[in-house]
Amino acid sequence: MHELSFQSEDKNQRYQELLLQIRTLIEDESDLIANLANTAAALKEAFGWFWVGFYLVKGEELVLGPFQGPLACTRIPYNRGVCGQSWAGKQILVVPDVNAHPGHIACSSRSQSEIVLPLINASGNVAAVLDIDSENLAEFDQTDARYLQKLVEIIARQHFQSRTKTL
Ligand code: SME
Repeated sequence: MHELSFQSEDKNQRYQELLLQIRTLIEDESDLIANLANTAAALKEAFGWFWVGFYLVKGEELVLGPFQGPLACTRIPYNRGVCGQSWAGKQILVVPDVNAHPGHIACSSRSQSEIVLPLINASGNVAAVLDIDSENLAEFDQTDARYLQKLVEIIARQHFQSRTKTL
């Protein structure tokens, strides 16, 4: 059993503490869903965001995976919503105001800003996305993008890029 602990209020340091703990948490576990679930819980506990979760690429859609927060849309088509756009563009999207973002899918009217990061597999394709929503406008910046990128790389390396793939 693990319990998270954070010493710092500083965002950079909190991310560093979190990354160390997530690395330890997931390296001993080979199951993808278990690791995505604990990662979503750890992010929620560390930062208290409104919604934190994963969508998995299944055929032509993203399908809801492990998450923390209110009920969410279960299926998102390719190139639709911020998640589908991150998948199509294979890129991190930081959206400071979701209501001003073309194509945004509102799973909750309380969500005001959002960041989405793709998890890339060994063939260079998107296997999943990490989606985080906040009730504050412009919650996410380049610091979040940088650290969350490291986090999704840890997960992608273990589950989507290794030769002994553990799905
Ligand atoms: N807002 C996302 C949909 C997922 S929910 O916010 C959990 C989007 O536009 O892709």
